[in-house]
Amino acid sequence: MYKILNVKQLSEEIKSMVISAPEIAKKAKPGQFIVLRIDENGERIPLTINDFDAKTGSITIIFQEVGKTTRKLGMLKKGDSLIDVAGPLGHPGKVEKLGTVVCIGGGVGVAVVYPEVRALKEIGNTVISIIGARNRDMVILEDKMREISDELHVTTDDGSYGRKGVVTDPLKEILMKKKADLVIAIGPIIMMKFVCLMTKEFDVPTIVNLNPIMVDGTGMCGSCRVTVGDETKFACVDGPEFNGHLVDFDELTNRNARFLNEEKEPCRCKKDS
Ligand SMILES: Cc1cc2nc3c(=O)[nH]c(=O)nc-3n(C[C@H](O)[C@H](O)[C@H](O)COP(=O)(O)OP(=O)(O)OC[C@H]3O[C@@H](n4cnc5c(N)ncnc54)[C@H](O)[C@@H]3O)c2cc1C
Ligand code: FES
Repeated sequence: MYKILNVKQLSEEIKSMVISAPEIAKKAKPGQFIVLRIDENGERIPLTINDFDAKTGSITIIFQEVGKTTRKLGMLKKGDSLIDVAGPLGHPGKVEKLGTVVCIGGGVGVAVVYPEVRALKEIGNTVISIIGARNRDMVILEDKMREISDELHVTTDDGSYGRKGVVTDPLKEILMKKKADLVIAIGPIIMMKFVCLMTKEFDVPTIVNLNPIMVDGTGMCGSCRVTVGDETKFACVDGPEFNGHLVDFDELTNRNARFLNEEKEPCRCKKDS
């Protein structure tokens, strides 16, 4: 059993949770994820390891309550346990000294990009970060991101905080002013697609972290199949990070919509009853 050590509300829909998982904490690297199950009858869902501490044997996840399992997870408290947590899964993000790296997190994607920003900064890169959210309440980890970035830009769709607009607005200005060696974009598929269209124009290599529907997380079921260039890849074992200029985002959008009817089924957890 994996004991929950702490739970914090970051915004109305987003929580962070610290879980005791010593074996995972020992091996985790930025960019990797876990697959967890809440209880015997629960479905398996993938969540990125936002932070890890080998000394305390704990990992932190940050999740947005979007459906049945994430809502059920959001109802758990300090002292409760999860039945299983598998990980660390996936390839770690490539952390190299390159020069200037622009890191973009959209929505809960900020939690995923955060450990990579920290690792890139620690080895001496200049890191310019952009975080984007629907509105003020959905902006997460702003202080932590500011602490480890050389420059931080915040955008909200409705202009309730930071600059009104989308992450590609400051990105365009940054790329027009200076040469970036790499862009990392993590967030909604539509955001990653438009970042990649822009960085292609500026000829800047771009890494994205894909979020297809995963079931086993071990390369066996084929659920997370994505097309990258001429190749078929399984995001759980070949990714989740890929060259964004080669990803077929439209196919990924279509494949992620294949269980929409099932996802609309009411959540029978306490919160909805
Ligand atoms: C590698 C990876 C890392 C992720 N990291 C995070 C993270 O750090 N924080 C976070 O909030 N979310 C993360 N996600 C997305 C998260 O897995 C989904 O939000 C979650 O599975 C939704 O489950 P649900 O039952 O609450 O919602 P549902 O109502 O079942 O689904 C809502 C939406 O979530 C997605 N989804 C549903 N089931 C899965 C699944 N088994 N695998 C992947 N996506 C699914 C689909 O796009 C779906 O439309 C990650 C996804 C992947 C693939
Ligand atoms: S989740 Fe099954 S192959 Fe990737």
